[in-house]
Amino acid sequence: MALLNLIRFTVLTLVLSFTSGEVTIVPNVGDLLIKEGASQTIECSTESTKDNLEWDYAKKDDENVKAIFVKQGAKQTSTLEIKNFSAELAGSYSCKVNDGTSVITEEINLVSVAETKKEPTYHFGNTTAELACNVVLSPSEYMVESVTWSKGDMLVSTLPDSDRFEAKDSLVINKPTRDDVGVYTASIKIANVETPYKCNVSFKDEILNIKPTKVEPTYYYGNKTAMLSCSINTAGRTVQNVLWLKNDTPISNLKESDRFMNPDNNTLIIDDPTRDDAGLYIVRITLDGLPPYDCKIMYKAGPFVEDFKKSKNLIEKDNMELQCKVKGYPKPTVTWYKDNAILNISQDHRIELLPLDGYKNARLIIKGIEFSDEGEYACKAFSSYFNETAIKTITVRVKDKLAALWPFLGIVCEVVILCAIIFIYEKRRNKRAEQEENNAQETNGPSLEKKEGLRHRGTPGNPGA
Ligand SMILES: *[C@@H]1O[C@H](CO)[C@@H](O)[C@H](O)[C@H]1NC(C)=O
Ligand SMILES: *[C@@H]1O[C@H](CO)[C@@H](O)[C@H](O)[C@H]1NC(C)=O
Ligand SMILES: *[C@@H]1O[C@H](CO)[C@@H](O)[C@H](O)[C@H]1NC(C)=O
Ligand SMILES: *[C@@H]1O[C@H](CO)[C@@H](O)[C@H](O)[C@H]1NC(C)=O
Ligand SMILES: *[C@@H]1O[C@H](CO)[C@@H](O)[C@H](O)[C@H]1NC(C)=O
Ligand SMILES: *[C@@H]1O[C@H](CO)[C@@H](O)[C@H](O)[C@H]1NC(C)=O
Ligand SMILES: *[C@@H]1O[C@H](CO)[C@@H](O)[C@H](O)[C@H]1NC(C)=O
Repeated sequence: MALLNLIRFTVLTLVLSFTSGEVTIVPNVGDLLIKEGASQTIECSTESTKDNLEWDYAKKDDENVKAIFVKQGAKQTSTLEIKNFSAELAGSYSCKVNDGTSVITEEINLVSVAETKKEPTYHFGNTTAELACNVVLSPSEYMVESVTWSKGDMLVSTLPDSDRFEAKDSLVINKPTRDDVGVYTASIKIANVETPYKCNVSFKDEILNIKPTKVEPTYYYGNKTAMLSCSINTAGRTVQNVLWLKNDTPISNLKESDRFMNPDNNTLIIDDPTRDDAGLYIVRITLDGLPPYDCKIMYKAGPFVEDFKKSKNLIEKDNMELQCKVKGYPKPTVTWYKDNAILNISQDHRIELLPLDGYKNARLIIKGIEFSDEGEYACKAFSSYFNETAIKTITVRVKDKLAALWPFLGIVCEVVILCAIIFIYEKRRNKRAEQEENNAQETNGPSLEKKEGLRHRGTPGNPGA
């Protein structure tokens, strides 16, 4: 009999526990920390089939708390929707199901957290910055135990340069830099509460909130003017200085600076622009109390390649250099072709590509040129920004090393032959002249003798005459 009773009791208990199941609250914590003014939903559910699920709490009349009951099959759910949470709503909330024989209850304590933050703004030259999140908890028996500071996923103590940070209740950043700005999270551990309360604190940077409005024109041949501009919301600050720069040079120092006009501080007008004016411009705006803000503006231009000379004649073993004068911004990429095939520099160590005027690969150098290097070279400038290509070609001819010598040798030969002719001629002439002289002497000599002879003959004849 006792055994039977025991069995009946066991079965009853089993059935009871089966039917009533248990009450579950989500989030599944004993104490829930809720920021003042925040909204929160808390869901209570049970598998019990008999009776309704109920929330029991002090401020049942508060319009900011609403319980919504839903029964779906064997599952009953009562969801508390809390709006604009405050210290008055803090306290113990219990969820219970009564199946007639027993009441099953689950409880959650709602703790209100009022935050007071210190969120400094980065100022160039500040020696410290202090961030803080102070909390007031209600009910008042909840006490702050400790505060841990992190930035992103990293504890402040593990950040590079972490010795500049003093993390206590507040976070002090010594010698702050612009890299320090961002959102820091204070994890506030409350005594006897499992989950710490997270409070986000910003180290603000007004500069990062500046959203510039830009006018970035494109150069076309024939344009009479170009207008570039960048306007920013100065957030009520005074503009101390505005400086326009190109390639880190103030435009007033550029060549032909009189073509650049600055009628309104955030607008630059370029008169008679040329393709060379295209590039990256910077407006450096200094607002009161802030480090300078650089706004980058593109003056765009499609790809362009200057004409090469008609052709290039080289002598075997010479070094060849071809310069591809590229223009355009954003900068096009340069590719060299030889006889319509991409020039492959990795295949030939004699070939080298170097930058020219900031355009990568625009200088082609081939050392110790060979006959096989002869051909038609093309420089192709492709702009992915414009999806446009500019191409120019040059014919390269390679001559025999002696080729240049031949004309010289020819001249030398000519000179030699000429000299020889002159020499021979001169020699002959001299010879002839000598001969003639000899002949003349021969005829003159005897004639003298003759004369003498005549005279002799005459002398004897004279006395006779
Ligand atoms: C939230 O509650 C506070 C008082 O606790 C009240 O001053 C405030 O106006 C309420 N805000 C909203 C949006 O209802
Ligand atoms: C930081 O610099 C600004 C402007 O110079 C100044 O107003 C502010 O008081 C400084 N703050 C700290 C914490 O030094
Ligand atoms: C705090 O900031 C982190 C990102 O830094 C964000 O994921 C999180 O939702 C924020 N928490 C609150 C309570 O705003
Ligand atoms: C520049 O020339 C192009 C094409 O002719 C034209 O569409 C554009 O409006 C011109 N821009 C200026 C500022 O003159
Ligand atoms: C341009 O800015 C300077 C200060 O950098 C100011 O003195 C000047 O009045 C401004 N000019 C115009 C036209 O806005
Ligand atoms: C250049 O030659 C190397 C080796 O023969 C080859 O791996 C590479 O793909 C070639 N590059 C081009 C652009 O043809
Ligand atoms: C670029 O231009 C070529 C025609 O010249 C066209 O086939 C291709 O789709 C274009 N690419 C893009 C990304 O617009």
